[in-house]
Amino acid sequence: MSRILVTGGAGYIGSHTVVALLQAGYQVVSVDNYSNSTPDVYEGIAKICGCAPDFEEADCVNPTAMRHLFCKYGPFDAVIHFAAKKAVGESVEQPLHYYRNNLDSLLTLLELMQEFGANHLVFSSSCTVYGQAKELPVTEESPILPAASPYGNTKQICEEIICDTVAATSLKAISLRYFNPIGAHSSAWIGELPRGVPQNLVPFITQTAIGLRTKLQVFGDDYNTPDGSCIRDYIYVVDLAQAHVAAVARLLSGKEKETYEVFNVGTGKGRSVLELIRAFEHITGKPLPYIIVGRRTGDIEQIWANPSKANRELHWKANTPIEAILSSAWAWEQRINESTSSVPQYTR
Ligand code: NAD
Ligand code: WQD
Repeated sequence: MSRILVTGGAGYIGSHTVVALLQAGYQVVSVDNYSNSTPDVYEGIAKICGCAPDFEEADCVNPTAMRHLFCKYGPFDAVIHFAAKKAVGESVEQPLHYYRNNLDSLLTLLELMQEFGANHLVFSSSCTVYGQAKELPVTEESPILPAASPYGNTKQICEEIICDTVAATSLKAISLRYFNPIGAHSSAWIGELPRGVPQNLVPFITQTAIGLRTKLQVFGDDYNTPDGSCIRDYIYVVDLAQAHVAAVARLLSGKEKETYEVFNVGTGKGRSVLELIRAFEHITGKPLPYIIVGRRTGDIEQIWANPSKANRELHWKANTPIEAILSSAWAWEQRINESTSSVPQYTR
């Protein structure tokens, strides 16, 4: 049975991927410093899978703690590296924190992987590397534009670090460029837990629907899109998790075509903010209070993926209907607001 190290395994995408890996029969070790999560998530994972992964609290930038982890739980057949800070606005305010956390964690991991002979890496990258592409949908060959934030820059630099390391060592790696992950596990045992006021659209929608926020602000209806609101490629987090299982399987079976590969992980369909609101209203059967406000600084107008390479090479496709995805997000929001819920309540 192959053993997989998952960094950031208590986080939003990491926890769904741990579930997918356990269900695919992998042994999983999760490491997290709980800077944006709590260990309670493993209880949710255990409810879904009937077992929890091995897990350890450690900071990925700490070589001593991470070496201990490699000694205690290794050897690892593959590593999936989710652990990173991810808030775009915060990264503008605290660039050094973002560079230190996101770059050092990768460097530490790569050094230890080399030392311990762990030769397969799957890295969490982002469609943010494309900026506002001139041609849509974006393929993996679309130009990488200068990063619009320190966060985005960490993803670009990490990809370069991985590319250079692959060229110089026996490492084989896959970077998955996620589009906009949304939704929660269908069981509602795990999902996204934003701290404070959500910056992302879907958690803001569900918090508004449940009454935690009075109304959603739609950032701009004067874009050059059919209804004037921005367009994104919203991908179900469970479909995204499956892409990681496919990427690990590709590396472990030696089916990769190049030692470093990059894949767009999206649905191939762009949806506007207003379309998403309508779809959500249809699910709940009640109107969602919203107002149109000015554009949000730094937002791009529109982007969606050409996921053909991932469909073809990873034998993977995102095919969950948007209604099911939004229903899962709504079920999760309702569950975490139950008075009996064991899910930690961050300041909301
Ligand atoms: P998340 O914050 O929910 O999960 C990240 C996890 O990593 C958290 O549990 C956090 O506590 C942990 N972590 C952070 N720094 C750490 C460190 N130094 N040591 C140990 N643990 C650490 O975020 P997510 O949405 O699950 O994102 C996972 C990855 O996917 C990140 O790399 C993120 O940049 C990337 N990504 C996310 C999105 C998105 O919209 N959610 C889109 C594209 C890419
Ligand atoms: C989606 C759309 C907003 C909130 C961010 C990061 C990106 C990636 C994914 C990691 C936009 C609109 C939002 C609200 C709104 N993360 N919106 N009202 O900005 O596409 O991407 O997360 O790599 O790097 O930038 O996602 O969910 O914030 O916004 O109208 O209250 O919803 O303007 O058009 P975004 P988002």
